[in-house]
Amino acid sequence: MKNLTQKFAVSAITAVCLALGTGAAMAQQSVEVLHWWTAGGEAAALNVLKGNLEKQGVKWNDMPVAGGSGEAAMTALRARVTSGNPPTASQMQGFDILDWGKQGLVADLNTLAQKGGWDKVVPPALQKFSKYNGKWIAAPVNIHSTNWVWANQVVLAKAGVTAEPKNWDEFIAAADKVQKAGFIAIAHGGQPWQDATLFENVAVATGGVDYYRKAFIELDGKTLASPTTEKVFQRMGQLRKLVDKDFSGRDWNVASGMVIGGKAGFQVMGDWAKGEFVNARQVPGKDFACFRFPGTQGIVTFNADQFVMFKLKDADKEAAQQKLANAILEPGFQSAFNVVKGSAPARTDVPDTAFDACGKKAIKDVAEASQAHTLVGSMAHGHAVPASIKNAFYDVITRHFNGQIDDKKAVAALASAARN
Ligand code: BGC
Repeated sequence: MKNLTQKFAVSAITAVCLALGTGAAMAQQSVEVLHWWTAGGEAAALNVLKGNLEKQGVKWNDMPVAGGSGEAAMTALRARVTSGNPPTASQMQGFDILDWGKQGLVADLNTLAQKGGWDKVVPPALQKFSKYNGKWIAAPVNIHSTNWVWANQVVLAKAGVTAEPKNWDEFIAAADKVQKAGFIAIAHGGQPWQDATLFENVAVATGGVDYYRKAFIELDGKTLASPTTEKVFQRMGQLRKLVDKDFSGRDWNVASGMVIGGKAGFQVMGDWAKGEFVNARQVPGKDFACFRFPGTQGIVTFNADQFVMFKLKDADKEAAQQKLANAILEPGFQSAFNVVKGSAPARTDVPDTAFDACGKKAIKDVAEASQAHTLVGSMAHGHAVPASIKNAFYDVITRHFNGQIDDKKAVAALASAARN
């Protein structure tokens, strides 16, 4: 008798489970994620996140918007939200996150953050952009930095460049050698955000971290209009002679491909470029070298990708949002993702064991710069000033790089852009 009751109970439970199972399958949780990770290395990294969620039963609906640094993605996002149809989540960075926070359209991640102890493990420099009014509204996935040079070791050897350039003069001398040996010295893509990425490297190398902070974060008029800024533009003119004639409009990953393929010696680019080298099965120290932009050693100009969830009136979707945010902060995921993406984890407690030499250096540099107060937000990637000023800076830098205004005019235009 007892046995029968037990049997009945077991089959009743099984029936309930099956029914629940079917129910769950019918209302499968899903996320629609807007992002700009369309290059080979970026897509490979994104797959780590997709796979993670799919394992948890959350379907991934992709909304990729191509275009480095995410300008096009942010335009597409605004259109979606304005038409009353926001995605579940969107990749975002820096001041854009705070802007959306101000509009009150994004979900509160505070309970999840508190449960996960995010306050203790995410560096304060990032938290500044993850919180609005003291509440978490974004889940940080990485720490990228923009002050890197990527070099083809074979090209350098052929050109007789035997040592890593440590300062401006050594860099220019090395690039000259590469050019004279018949290669393109610097693989560059003439798009405003890439010009600005190059510019901020030159700015830090020329004026140091205090100059950079005063000019491009605090927008101090005197510093912006100073002879140092003029020197930065003069140096941009020097670099202009070291890029090839077809640079205009080129995508950043195409430029990375020129270094990977042995056409060019160097690329000055954030460490998402490493994702391209890794994706092409290249190995640091053997095929390519990574080093801090000469003159910026000890300083890190960072930008961090974060995911922001939009307020939705759907319990299943909300549950999926929480799963997505939770997955992003999970230490094992942070390691697996950033190994592929080229960045450092957004948490300080992730071991560097799985990372290659450049990744280990990235993690160490961020920790040291954070201690030394030399971890500063990237202007080119939305971590120094709001988008309106950033875009005005882009405009001046690009016009100067294309020879439309001279050094002096560029200095004045930059200072005036900061006042608007
Ligand atoms: C983002 C990276 C991205 C790069 C190129 C940067 O602003 O932080 O994640 O790979 O742009 O699109």
